[in-house]
Amino acid sequence: MELTSPADQTVVYLNGSYMPLSEARIPVLDRGFIFGDGVYEVIPVYSRRAFRLEGHLQRLDDSLAGIRLPNPHTREEWTDIIRELARRSAYEDQSMYLQVTRGVAKRDHAFPKNVTPTVFLMTGPLSMPSPEAISQGVAAITVPDNRWLRCDLKTIALLPNVLLRQVAVDAGAVEAVLLRDGVLTEGAASNIFVVKDGVVLCPPKSNLILPGITYDVLLELVQAHGMPCEVRDVSEAEVRSAQEVWLTSSTREVLAITKLDGKPVGEGKPGPAFRKMYGLFQELKAQARRAPEPKVHA
Ligand code: PDD
Repeated sequence: MELTSPADQTVVYLNGSYMPLSEARIPVLDRGFIFGDGVYEVIPVYSRRAFRLEGHLQRLDDSLAGIRLPNPHTREEWTDIIRELARRSAYEDQSMYLQVTRGVAKRDHAFPKNVTPTVFLMTGPLSMPSPEAISQGVAAITVPDNRWLRCDLKTIALLPNVLLRQVAVDAGAVEAVLLRDGVLTEGAASNIFVVKDGVVLCPPKSNLILPGITYDVLLELVQAHGMPCEVRDVSEAEVRSAQEVWLTSSTREVLAITKLDGKPVGEGKPGPAFRKMYGLFQELKAQARRAPEPKVHA
């Protein structure tokens, strides 16, 4: 089956070479395919500039360390690969996907010796939330968080997240808001913030949530603009009685959840704190577009 049409202009980097997506091949014994043994990043690119690249590369380091896989590239090498891939894309704004797996080896659970990691990146157009999703908000449902206890690692073993997201989609919602032991963790592929009595609340970083890059951006903006904010456990009751609920991710930026489990959140439309955050985020993006391009390393 051909995965790409001529119109599909996704460009790819695989183990040292740039190529069209349709030409990229990996062996079936890659441990990413066999075990989900790898980590990944999704990096938004605005005007061909990778947004918050340092944060993504630091989290990549942390994820690799967490699965005991030495980082195959230096920061400079990653920066050059990402910059070159962004340059080769037909799109100014891109969603760049980066994955490192433990490489190709005979199937055995224990780590193979002397294996070269597989490094794969692809970049395609960044599809932003629709104007309607931004102005009206989106629907979500709550689902028990049944994932493992290392949700801080961005591993490619995403089956639990896939199943949780699908529960939401089957219910006509765009995201699953996950609850564990009576407290909010995150979304199936996003972080979650709530606004309760004028205070922005979000769960602290821990092994139970992914340390989102957009989460960091939101917290910086909230603090820089003097909005009352508490980073602490958020109870299920607080989520259910919140005036506003937001989701954040690299591909959705910040979106208001205006319906939760079929009931309106607050007044059922994006609230004033969301509108403020959305505006501030757009300003930050506009600045990022004007930033100098990262330099190429010799
Ligand atoms: N997912 N939590 C989970 C479980 C996620 O998968 C993501 C992002 C986030 C938000 O992180 P960030 O702000 O760094 O994108 C939180 C990406 C977009 C994905 O898997 O496609």
